[in-house]
Amino acid sequence: MSNKDIYILGIESSCDDTSASILKNSKVLSNVIANQNIHKKYGGVVPELASRAHLSNIIPVVDSALKESNVSINKLSAIAFTRGPGLMGSLIIGTEFAKGLGLSLNIPVIDVNHMQAHLLVHFIKNDLKKPLFPFLGVTISGGHTQFILVEDYFKMKILGQTLDDAIGEAFDKCGKKIGLGYPAGPEIDKLAKIGDELRFKFPLPRVKGGDISYSGTKTAFINFLHKEKNQNKNFINDNLNDICASIQKNLIDNLLSKIELLTIENNLNRIVLGGGVSANSYLKKKLDTESEKNNWEVFIPKLEYTTDNAAMIGIVGHLKYKESIESSLNTTPSPRLTF
Ligand code: KG4
Ligand code: ZN
Repeated sequence: MSNKDIYILGIESSCDDTSASILKNSKVLSNVIANQNIHKKYGGVVPELASRAHLSNIIPVVDSALKESNVSINKLSAIAFTRGPGLMGSLIIGTEFAKGLGLSLNIPVIDVNHMQAHLLVHFIKNDLKKPLFPFLGVTISGGHTQFILVEDYFKMKILGQTLDDAIGEAFDKCGKKIGLGYPAGPEIDKLAKIGDELRFKFPLPRVKGGDISYSGTKTAFINFLHKEKNQNKNFINDNLNDICASIQKNLIDNLLSKIELLTIENNLNRIVLGGGVSANSYLKKKLDTESEKNNWEVFIPKLEYTTDNAAMIGIVGHLKYKESIESSLNTTPSPRLTF
């Protein structure tokens, strides 16, 4: 491998964000994200609408990423794309676009696992400290909640995961029940800031080992609201901040108890977060105090790299390109891709 600069175009289209990014080596030159507001009025992602929006967004988004980076398309070394996990219709758009462009430019395409990318995003060159291996990777998003033993860039093993809903999904579903828009996670976080987290108590699920569950909490929350509204029909409005703070505490405390268990069981003291929920401020606050107590080193991505973005796909493309790992043009999307 020569020490020539490597230029990667990263493409992300696994769910409802169309994103393209250009990286020069491990540095991000551009990271353009087109959010799909169309889903807001349905309170969740509508797969058919998501793939249609990717179709119209993909070329303008890639074009903007190239323009913003000032890199000519002919300079690209390879194109990295999300192969899975995600929505089939959405993944097809990014995968086929990447393959078509790769073929026309005569450069390799590299398939990327979206969940690995949420963790490897920490290896983008910036002013943050990079984690050393091994570490406990915690991917917390609207679609996933996984605990991963990461021994090297591509040596990852799932230690536990959700048995039902993802943590972000639990935030969104509980938020919907109290009239918040989609995605409700950031709004719950904001409203909880002036709420009393000890006001309402919800049971913590008892799941053995590294796995976690969120559907019971959601049901308990719905039943609680139902009961309270029978006594006071304005219950939600009258107590919104306290409700948000209390449910947020339950969802995050559940996660923290598993992190604690898995770090002890696997003798790990580095915790690396990835995915939209890593932006949660109560989680960050609790991790601060817990890391002092347990001697943890905690790594949280920059805000622009917590939610879905193509820079994280680009950095994995860069790491794989250096190892000469390429995909064949027969590669197809894999909605349930694991590792
Ligand atoms: O990683 P991401 O952008 O997309 C998926 O792959 O799902 O994560 C989106 C999820 C949503 O469920 C959203 O409600 C949640 O992350 N989220 C938050 C916060 N910011 C985003 N949840 C709690 N607190 C936040 N500050
Ligand atoms: Zn994601």
